Amino acid sequence: MSRLFLSRLWLDSLTAVLLLLGFAYWWLGNAVHELAGTAMFLLLIAHNLFNRRWWGGIARTRREPRSLFNVGITFALLTTMLALLVTSVLISNALSSVLPPWGGFTVRQIHTLAAYWALVIVAIHLGLRWPLLMGVARNLFGIREPNALRTLLLRAMAVAIAIHGVWSFLQLGLGTKLSMQMTLDWWNFEESVVGFFVHCAAVAGLVMVVTYYGLKLLQLGQSARGHAFWQRHQPR
Ligand code: HEM
Repeated sequence: MSRLFLSRLWLDSLTAVLLLLGFAYWWLGNAVHELAGTAMFLLLIAHNLFNRRWWGGIARTRREPRSLFNVGITFALLTTMLALLVTSVLISNALSSVLPPWGGFTVRQIHTLAAYWALVIVAIHLGLRWPLLMGVARNLFGIREPNALRTLLLRAMAVAIAIHGVWSFLQLGLGTKLSMQMTLDWWNFEESVVGFFVHCAAVAGLVMVVTYYGLKLLQLGQSARGHAFWQRHQPR
């Protein structure tokens, strides 16, 4: 594992933290929100420059569910982030003196909608890369052999995070936010700041767990079907 790749992963983590910070608008205020958002977009440009070979190889993507799903999710991510970027510019306070007043109520609503969908789609994007991230973790901790107890503990943690994620989803009222419904409830940062980030991270964790294990089940189903087909067509 190269030093460059590790540095890239650090930058990816920073990008994820900046995305989460963006949700705490009413805690951080507008200036920090706009600065964090700008830094996140700059990091995302770098992220895609590092991954430019992936973009160049799209036409050669294998026609199987996992790869096609990965391409679909990356395009959904691109669309969401572009929507977030365009609406950010339109409603920016910092740019309001140089730009005409294009950003009204609807643009703000689209901005918020894109942000919450970005959280979900980034989590799917990470769930798809979970085997890679686990490989990096194994390397860093010097883990060579499989261990049943460790696997069991990690799976139990994944289940606990997923259950917390369902509760957090309800606590944050994400259902209404992802369907662009008007709500007056907002997180009370005076009550708890850490709680807000724990809820956001737990929802992201839930989506990652569902993506990772969902695809695993799909692959198991496929190989079972393949095995049955192979057995049916064996010469007797
Ligand atoms: C907070 C936002 C994001 C995070 C945390 C994130 C994280 C990651 C990670 C950990 C990887 C694997 C390691 C690497 O190549 O750096 C990756 C790969 C990739 N990401 Fe992202 N990403 C984010 C946003 C995006 C966006 C917005 C796009 C596209 C518009 C994107 C496109 C890609 C591509 C094309 C790859 C390579 C895929 C492959 O090799 O299979 N990412 N991302």
